[in-house]
Amino acid sequence: MDNIQLGPNYFCLRLLCPEIAPAYQPGQFVMLRAWAGYDPLLPRPFAIHQTWQRQDQEQQGIDILYQVVGRGTRLMAGLKPGDQIYLVGPLGKGFIIPEGLQSAFLVGGGMGIAPLLALAHKIIRDSRPSPKLSLLLGGKGKEDLLRVKEFIELKVSVHLATEDGSVGHKGLVTEMLPTIIPRQRPQVIYASGPEAMLKKIAHEASYYEIPCQVSLERLMACGIGACLSCVTKTRLAQPPEGLSPDGVSPTPFQYQRVCLDGPVFEAQEVIWNNGAE
Ligand code: FES
Repeated sequence: MDNIQLGPNYFCLRLLCPEIAPAYQPGQFVMLRAWAGYDPLLPRPFAIHQTWQRQDQEQQGIDILYQVVGRGTRLMAGLKPGDQIYLVGPLGKGFIIPEGLQSAFLVGGGMGIAPLLALAHKIIRDSRPSPKLSLLLGGKGKEDLLRVKEFIELKVSVHLATEDGSVGHKGLVTEMLPTIIPRQRPQVIYASGPEAMLKKIAHEASYYEIPCQVSLERLMACGIGACLSCVTKTRLAQPPEGLSPDGVSPTPFQYQRVCLDGPVFEAQEVIWNNGAE
């Protein structure tokens, strides 16, 4: 185990776990409890950032990118090599890469960057000829934009936005979409970050008729579909007869578990804010 500090509040936890790394698909997550005892009581969900392998020692594992925001992550920041942690994964459904993908936008807000680097690696590895990828990344300030160098090394075209204007576009990452989407017309948009950002991206993608996959964040107690703490409303793909949307009746919906049926969903399936505006 290694716990690498990336910035004032950001860390990368490197874990040796040969059982999880080979089974991982970008977008999947782990449930992690990095502290002894029951305070905090529950493990926390973390997107797997990337997998790693040391050829010489045949060791492999995963990286977890995290920001110190509360008691659980403060305790994580104190982890040292040799400490024991509780870890279950890989969990959930990850991003789907369509056959022959030639261009995609990866849109991240803050810690939403976590699953996108592994996704970029996988798209580049699996697609021939080389696909054209663009990263649109937003954060409060320059220090909140993580892993930019790694995307540039992958030859991904990078567009940055910061709310304080310290680098890139001054404002929200979503404000860049109306200019960049019509210019580049990506085949797919992948997005990960706060729900308000995902909702806006889903709206833009739908306007330009571009398929969009979003990774939802929810509080999770179990991570395996048992407790229903993470449910979200999604549209019924085939509404039962008499329940078809008619512009008057409410949209027929179902509850899905973000931990088991997601966290990645097709954007047009999601009923944002669980239907509350
Ligand atoms: Fe328990 Fe999803 S976290 S059902």
